[in-house]
Amino acid sequence: MKAFSFSLALAALALCSCGEKSGSPNPGTPQPQGSTGKKLTVGFSQIGAESAWRSAETDSIRSEAEKRGVDLKFSDAQQKQENQIKALRTFVANGVDAIILAPVVETGWEPVLREIKQANIPVVLVDRGVKVSDESLYSTLIASDFVEEGRRAGEWLAKKLEGKGNIVELEGTIGAAPAIDRKKGFHEVIDKNPGMKILRSQSGDFTRAKGKEVMEAFLKAEGKNINAVYAHNDDMALGAIQAIDEAGMKPGTDIVVISIDGVKAAFEAMVAGKLNCTVECNPLLGPAAFDAIEAIRAGKAVEKKTIAKDEVFDQSTAKDVIGSRKY
Ligand code: AHR
Repeated sequence: MKAFSFSLALAALALCSCGEKSGSPNPGTPQPQGSTGKKLTVGFSQIGAESAWRSAETDSIRSEAEKRGVDLKFSDAQQKQENQIKALRTFVANGVDAIILAPVVETGWEPVLREIKQANIPVVLVDRGVKVSDESLYSTLIASDFVEEGRRAGEWLAKKLEGKGNIVELEGTIGAAPAIDRKKGFHEVIDKNPGMKILRSQSGDFTRAKGKEVMEAFLKAEGKNINAVYAHNDDMALGAIQAIDEAGMKPGTDIVVISIDGVKAAFEAMVAGKLNCTVECNPLLGPAAFDAIEAIRAGKAVEKKTIAKDEVFDQSTAKDVIGSRKY
């Protein structure tokens, strides 16, 4: 397993932009070659645009493809696995050279991954993993450690609440790796603190609108009993903040709010005193994904799993860091 950071990704990016070829149609743009001697074609099956994090990941992969002169076939699945499977089959039918897949849920991929393997097309998984009986069905996974993110959120909150308090949890999409793992890591820590109790957990599907809706229901049911909300992503936390505001309470003060991702809007909410903490999850996976594709095509060995290095940010540092955030 390998860890990468922003600086490594940037180094990879710098290396890549040296690979310029003279005579390319757009001077300054390298032209990687596909199997037929034409431009490299890569299919990218994206989950959707449910969060600011997701849009940052899409931008990273799109802009990296453009920098490298790759013909990127992009498909937005609107958060539906069936749409992703359809897109993957279209990529195979069109004979792409490689596939980047951000899988919405963990299970149900085996048949389509077998078809892709039979067509000899390498698959690079980005940000979320899959559960398959045969790991050779994909080449590599580039992601964050979601269990560790959950643990870090739990540790930060246990310290903040001094081991005592009632928590509500806004979970991500049911069956998605980050929802499963972030819950697991968080509960691991909270279970060790007998004074801390998770009153309610429900999915907000990683969106701001659903996060708000579910938080409204939590507030209706539990009211002032709630000391903290743990959201599996920033967008749901921002929705919850709105719900707390509208209920006449002060988010960040009356109710502690903690989430995961580290998007710009989360930093703005921390500076405004409404969000207490965000655990970073790096979405800028484009450089590492295309490095992996190039290595696989060159016959080089790639790590089965590459883990991004993430940090924890709270209100104490938000103001100093906000200007340097890239997403
Ligand atoms: O898989 C990563 C998660 O998916 C991010 O935390 C979330 O914002 C996104 O929708």
